[in-house]
Amino acid sequence: MSKYLLHARGIHKSYQMGRVSVRVLQGASLDLRNGEFLVVMGASGCGKSTLLHILGGLDTPDRGTLEFDRQDVFTASDAWRRTYRSLSVGFIFQFYHLLPECTVLENVMMPRLVKASAMQWLLGGAKRTARRDASAMLDRVGLAERLQHRPNELSGGERQRVAIARALINGPRLLLADEPTGNLDAAMGEEILRLLVELNRGGQTIVMVTHDPKVASHAHRRLHIRAGVIEEAKARNGARPER
Ligand SMILES: Nc1ncnc2c1ncn2[C@@H]1O[C@H](COP(=O)(O)OP(=O)(O)OP(=O)(O)O)[C@@H](O)[C@H]1O
Ligand SMILES: [Mg+2]
Repeated sequence: MSKYLLHARGIHKSYQMGRVSVRVLQGASLDLRNGEFLVVMGASGCGKSTLLHILGGLDTPDRGTLEFDRQDVFTASDAWRRTYRSLSVGFIFQFYHLLPECTVLENVMMPRLVKASAMQWLLGGAKRTARRDASAMLDRVGLAERLQHRPNELSGGERQRVAIARALINGPRLLLADEPTGNLDAAMGEEILRLLVELNRGGQTIVMVTHDPKVASHAHRRLHIRAGVIEEAKARNGARPER
């Protein structure tokens, strides 16, 4: 297996606002190793979420290449990219994005049911295995006692745990987290961070966006987006990054 999971090269992305083009990413590049815990920092509006969406195949760049496991993501077929989004990548959002009318268990089962093949549906086992695997995943994130709750019956930290379980249910090679602790108080944020660190120790490759230098200090490597490009943080792990 290659040492690297992903290479992004010269990513450009602008948004058209009426007649004005807002240039966000202007040649962003990064290399991500298998098993790495990478953090992306930078001022509000610098393009962190934009970058994460592009890495996850949720958005396309204007220019530049993204290679995942030696496959060029944006020249691949739509079908390949759909599979990439649903199986290779797990995405965690700052505001959870859970389905409010579904239970915790159903929320986590959902990506697995989307993945299930027509044959599995015909044989009738898809729902049963999805339920089993989703329960196991929720147990792993400490929510075995909350399977039948709805998202609005949970604390913020618990909701984020559900979102993490949902992101992991299809066993993605890459976990992308956009400010997963940004909406939580310090104690809950730490709980989530501990979970991510534990997952990473188990081999999960993670790219996480955060504003918080304390949160960032848990990563192997920190990158900063400045003026549309990515710079490696010079500060040592645990130290405050330079401004
Ligand atoms: N769909 C869009 N249409 C127009 N402009 C957009 C769109 N999405 C993002 N932008 C602009 O692109 C810039 C980068 O946005 P992005 O969400 O990537 O920033 P960010 O670094 O994640 O910020 P924050 O830390 O506040 O989450 C911002 O100026 C934003 O207004
Ligand atoms: Mg953002």
